[in-house]
Amino acid sequence: MITEFFYYDEIDSTNNELRRRVQSGSAMPEGTVVSAGRQTAGRGRSGHNWESPKDVSVSTSMILYPEEVPLPYIGRLTPIAAVAVSEAIEGLYGLETGIKWPNDVLIHRKKVCGILTEMEPTDDRVRYVIVGIGVNVHQREFPPEIAHMATSLDLALESVESNRTAPKDGGRKQGLQETHCRELTQAIWERFGAHYEAFLKTNDLSEVLDDYNRRLINRNEVVKVLDPQNPYEGVAECMDVAGRLLVRVSDEIRRVDSGEVSVRGIYGYV
Ligand code: BTN
Repeated sequence: MITEFFYYDEIDSTNNELRRRVQSGSAMPEGTVVSAGRQTAGRGRSGHNWESPKDVSVSTSMILYPEEVPLPYIGRLTPIAAVAVSEAIEGLYGLETGIKWPNDVLIHRKKVCGILTEMEPTDDRVRYVIVGIGVNVHQREFPPEIAHMATSLDLALESVESNRTAPKDGGRKQGLQETHCRELTQAIWERFGAHYEAFLKTNDLSEVLDDYNRRLINRNEVVKVLDPQNPYEGVAECMDVAGRLLVRVSDEIRRVDSGEVSVRGIYGYV
């Protein structure tokens, strides 16, 4: 699905760069990708920073022009991207992934990937959408405030490998797969492209729904819905075709919209 590709050793944010290019009027085909070896001002959801130190992670963004898709449905591209990242990681490295609703990709219940979708609305449609994906690949450690909930592909591969071979020396094991940011970037956008095409036919998440819910980490677990007006607990059942999390509270099913609230497991991050 990548139509044009721009790589920077260092940039503020790959999402910012695509936005600058589109706003300056450069003609960019749908599927143009900007990737970087390091972001100096990587951005996460809810105004958080996203750490992307030099050459240890994937920072990549794609521009889309889904002109026919009504504005309220654009957010559905984010769970689609989460499925694409999961499939790419599983396909390349054989690691099992989970998804924390709505769109964090996890390995061993720790976050390995975050997704930030941004758009410019016009009336009831969009002028463009930028899907930005950050994957932790070679990190060995994380800042203390996120260390308990973050992992990288290298760390995950090492732990799988050491469980498999029950090592006594604790050293780096033979057969450990090396991870490669470029092949991962390629695989992510290839998977994303296939799901994006299907999405354009239905405007809903039906094509990825089973693959998403199979990986949903909170499934059948107690979650706390952090609704600022009325926080409550319930059991997460699944995501629906509109991207809402279905949460059972006693006999009632509540449909939780990711734009309005976030969800926490009662025992921590997931
Ligand atoms: C999150 O908070 O989980 C979302 C993180 C998204 C990070 C990616 S890295 C590539 C793109 N450029 C950015 O500045 N952010 C996104």
